[in-house]
Amino acid sequence: MGTTIRPRERDAILQALRAGVVPRVGQQHVQVGRAEEVKALLSDVHRIADGGSAFRLAIGEYGSGKTFFLNLVRSIAMERKLVTVHADLSPDRRLHATGGQARSLYAELMRNIATRAKPDGGAMGSIVERFITAALTEARETGTTPDAVIRTRLASLSELTGGYDFAEVIGAYWRGHDTGNEQLKSDAVRWLRGEFSTRTDARAALGVRTIVDDANFYDQLKLLARFVVMAGFGGLLVCLDEMVNLYKLANTQARNANYEQILRILNDSLQGTAAHLGFILGGTPDFLLDTRRGLYSYAALQSRLAENTYATGGLVDYSGPVLRLANLTPEDFYLLLTRLRHVFAGGDANAYLVPDDALTAFMTHCSSRIGDAYFRTPRTTIKEFVNLLAVLEQNPGTDWAPLVGTVNLVAESNPDLAPLAEEDGSARPYATDGSADRTEPGVGSNSASASSLEDDDLATFRL
Ligand SMILES: Nc1ncnc2c1ncn2[C@@H]1O[C@H](COP(=O)(O)OP(=O)(O)O)[C@@H](O)[C@H]1O
Ligand SMILES: [Mg+2]
Repeated sequence: MGTTIRPRERDAILQALRAGVVPRVGQQHVQVGRAEEVKALLSDVHRIADGGSAFRLAIGEYGSGKTFFLNLVRSIAMERKLVTVHADLSPDRRLHATGGQARSLYAELMRNIATRAKPDGGAMGSIVERFITAALTEARETGTTPDAVIRTRLASLSELTGGYDFAEVIGAYWRGHDTGNEQLKSDAVRWLRGEFSTRTDARAALGVRTIVDDANFYDQLKLLARFVVMAGFGGLLVCLDEMVNLYKLANTQARNANYEQILRILNDSLQGTAAHLGFILGGTPDFLLDTRRGLYSYAALQSRLAENTYATGGLVDYSGPVLRLANLTPEDFYLLLTRLRHVFAGGDANAYLVPDDALTAFMTHCSSRIGDAYFRTPRTTIKEFVNLLAVLEQNPGTDWAPLVGTVNLVAESNPDLAPLAEEDGSARPYATDGSADRTEPGVGSNSASASSLEDDDLATFRL
């Protein structure tokens, strides 16, 4: 723990935690537990880089750390030279749709496309640029023309579903590069990002007949996985969070179509036919286990995802597609508090604002207010602890002991437990504008805004 923490990183971590969201950088400074889970995912990352595939469902209760874990896996994957994309599902973003919601999910994934050099997303342009650079290098080394090298490389894509136009678009980027046509380059990148909404526009700009749309969502991801390898990366990791939004689809037909898409992905992964491509999906136990609307309502998925019957009563199995995230323990939580104190002090043990006693006092206080939720679903408790340190920092000489007792806590409630709309059967086909099967928009979409609005945190501390 003797590491120093850069001020910018420190501020980013603390700001996120105070807003109730998972930090996007510097997670390793606060991470506790998850050693086995990380090991399992690390082996997936290696398999993807070796040309294989991976599929995992990270299942955990509301607030148990799914989003945190997905982010952690993402940063590990980038570290190992994979390209990552990630998005939250929502009523407007799904794996399967006919009203534009799958393209919308694709576009969101592409906005967040990230590499080690561009961990904050928006990396599509630089990935294509790397592909060109790699081709130019090969052309120089082998004494061939760049055109020939690029054509050969793209030929292997053309054999895949949708690969012809994908290759055409990369070809257009190369022409733009070669002739200094910036417009052509940016149109090609826009196409790859799923930002063309009509075929007519795509045809006018790039001469291709197709666009990324609902129907080719998954094929495009498979093509992209192959392409990033040609650009010198290990493969593609797709992280999807808030899968509970599929469970919440009221229309049975729409829900099943999405589950069927998951089945395709799972089958490809089990059969090893999706090269250099991995998926990790974050969801609650309901999303998985509910036999009426969860993945288990879809017979083919239930049989493939059935958990290892030997892994009960404390025995675990990290090799199957379902990865159960255990709840954090009080010991984990104590360690987490020491980490938060350390981060707050910028990594300087001499600058700690409170002694160890304050950590245990804080835990006792939390426990008396909200029971074991304080460590099992620690979003609020983490937030309040950081707030407490903020007050102590800004009011030097203040005694921590009386302050701990004033920390106000309410147990968090899972927004997903709100009543769901009933199934509307086939009365309104889901294939219209997507509003037919929409549940309450925004609920459970894990938005930062919801919690950051109530930002008068310090109001709970009266000095
Ligand atoms: N392994 C962990 N180490 C440290 N903090 C964690 C860990 N897992 C979760 N957290 C923190 O707990 C809170 C809830 O985690 P989150 O990932 O948002 O839960 P979920 O997505 O399952 O609802 C967040 O503040 C997060 O930063
Ligand atoms: Mg989450």
